[in-house]
Amino acid sequence: MNVDLRATMRTFATGVTVVTTYVDRPEGRRHDAVTVNSLSSVSLEPPLVAIGLRHASPFLADVLESRVFAVSILDVGAADLAGAFAARRDQRAAALSSLSATPGAATGALVIDSPGWLECVYHQQVAFGDHTLVVGEVVAAGVQERRPPLIFLHGSYHALAQRAVPLLPEAIC
Ligand SMILES: Cc1cc2nc3c(=O)[nH]c(=O)nc-3n(C[C@H](O)[C@H](O)[C@H](O)COP(=O)(O)O)c2cc1C
Repeated sequence: MNVDLRATMRTFATGVTVVTTYVDRPEGRRHDAVTVNSLSSVSLEPPLVAIGLRHASPFLADVLESRVFAVSILDVGAADLAGAFAARRDQRAAALSSLSATPGAATGALVIDSPGWLECVYHQQVAFGDHTLVVGEVVAAGVQERRPPLIFLHGSYHALAQRAVPLLPEAIC
């Protein structure tokens, strides 16, 4: 069946994250970071999250080698960062050198100063179609009071038009 998945998924508003990992080489540790919006929370006990990456992604190869990654959830001021880490690896390297980030205590993967972050250890991978779903066990996590989240919708970055107000009197989960 000929379906236009992209056209429909463009109407699905998501947050935006930067996922980091690294590989150790004789010349030292090489960090990398990519922009990802396929983050999904897949289990609470144990705590597991999944990210979808292209099979051919060099970043995926690094994650499968290091077996660790960190996820930083971006705030509304970080659209430039999201753009920089959606570029090719050689271009990402320049953005990495000026990034405000510190190695996570649990994994060593870079954690960006952001509203929420997770440090993950490889749990499982499943190949589907042209992407690989990497499931990580969350071994450390944190939140901090920050600006509102960055939103990705209709192929571009957005800010919430007003402070997020719950539409129902009680939280759903
Ligand atoms: C908002 C946004 C979200 C993205 N989410 C993903 C994603 O979930 N998975 C993915 O493989 N690429 C995603 N990308 C594209 C990657 O960031 C980009 O292709 C990057 O270059 C991948 O790195 P690599 O292919 O060099 O390893 C996204 C890009 C943008 C702008």
